[in-house]
Amino acid sequence: MEKGKKKSIILKVGVWYVFILAVFAGYTNWLPQIRGDAPEAAVAVDVASVSVEDLKEMGAKIIFGTNDPEGALARGENPAGKGQCPLCHQFFLDQKADRCPNLIALSTENTADPEGLLKITEEQRSHKRPLTAVYDKFKTKLVSGETNSGITPHARSGGEYLIESEYCPNCFVVPGYAVKGTDDMVSPMPIINKPPIELTDTEIVAVVTFLQTRDGDMSKATAKDSWESYFGKKLGEGAKAEQAAGGAAPGSTTVALDTDTPEQIVTKMGCFACHKIPGIAVAKIGMVGPLLIEGTNAVNRIKSPEYKKAMAEGKVHATTPKDYIMESIVNPGAFIVPGFNDDMLKDFATKFTFAALSKMADYLLEQTAEKAIKEGLDRLPNEKEGSLMKSAKVQTNQNKVHVVSKEEVRDQVSMVSKGGQNHKEAL
Ligand code: HEC
Ligand code: HEC
Repeated sequence: MEKGKKKSIILKVGVWYVFILAVFAGYTNWLPQIRGDAPEAAVAVDVASVSVEDLKEMGAKIIFGTNDPEGALARGENPAGKGQCPLCHQFFLDQKADRCPNLIALSTENTADPEGLLKITEEQRSHKRPLTAVYDKFKTKLVSGETNSGITPHARSGGEYLIESEYCPNCFVVPGYAVKGTDDMVSPMPIINKPPIELTDTEIVAVVTFLQTRDGDMSKATAKDSWESYFGKKLGEGAKAEQAAGGAAPGSTTVALDTDTPEQIVTKMGCFACHKIPGIAVAKIGMVGPLLIEGTNAVNRIKSPEYKKAMAEGKVHATTPKDYIMESIVNPGAFIVPGFNDDMLKDFATKFTFAALSKMADYLLEQTAEKAIKEGLDRLPNEKEGSLMKSAKVQTNQNKVHVVSKEEVRDQVSMVSKGGQNHKEAL
């Protein structure tokens, strides 16, 4: 090998190694702080008598997984509790999660928001949404019920709109935020009362109470009444006290450890909220990022002109598919997969041990188009490689969608929540 070339390769490998060492060092510094942060015990809630203050506090715990989300942010973490909302939504000015409508009032210009609804708080916005022409469009199109939830859009107040947003994200999709290629009809937001997030009714009321009273004005809390008027029944009927508002989610205050399986990592880190992954039961709903079939994708990515350009500009460093995957996880902004936005969370570098990162990359590298087709998992409409089902001409597979049973998901979740509490459903 020619001397100059050899030197540059050694240099590149060196840069990569230092990068990973830095990641590893970041992790060891950080670990002791989170060890003491044990998940809180579940609280039994009597929904008939619980105060709005308690509901709000419970809501904050479900959203952030901690009483001190700002402290967590200051430490460079993205506080996400079992509701997983902060994976996608921005709740604080200095929180990096701008993929989705911010749930605080942020005055940024947005061409998809001509009515300026994103400039007002979520509580104010909620009253206006059901009165818009876009809401009417959804009502008309989904008059016989939205497929995944069975719900027909019928919010008549701000509180009902917020409740509906959790049970049926497709009942109204904020303009500009739909999954690309779905004619503005499909939301990337998971259904919050279904697996794997699967909040109970009371937990959803708590989350909505938090959103409504964020400014401290408790008189705006209508969530419980809105839930009852929206569904036409009493909250918690048939179940006096519900186990709700557990502390941390399996996914919060956690680090991906050497001993974790790929399933545990995906659950802990919330990858499932954004990605579909073959072979992992919880990861069948994500619509924000690409289908993770890296055995097929990674090789092509590093050969692509877009990646070569980023390499020439010194932004990326991977020369093997495995390095590409690790780089994508710890430095996601360096290269943006064509067809997507820079929407991946940026804090995984502080949340993986090197061994866990390597294990996750090996697992993803084994996932291929063939495995995805077998499970009926397809690429998103915005992935430029196009549908797997079409290219493989396997029409019958459309009917063979792998439906994840509740038990399968529970197994996954309880695996990682040992030490915390299991999330019990009272209904
Ligand atoms: C995987 C990403 C993701 C997660 C996780 C997520 N959301 Fe969303 N959410 C979105 C997107 C994208 C939209 C905009 C599209 C739509 O209207 O459905 C949205 C819309 C909303 C809206 C309507 C906003 C408006 O301006 O009308 C509310 C309210 C909301 N989400 C609350 C929540 C809450 C509460 C949680 C946690 C329990 C949550 N979301 C979890 C992605 C997510
Ligand atoms: C908030 C949503 C979100 C979460 C959570 C998330 N990702 Fe991503 N991910 C994306 C988006 C969007 C892209 C495409 C844009 C880009 O390249 O950064 C992506 C890209 C990737 C890629 C490159 C895929 C390819 O085919 O080139 C890998 C690998 C990946 N993510 C792995 C993970 C893993 C592992 C986790 C959990 C530890 C995770 N992601 C969590 C949104 C997310």
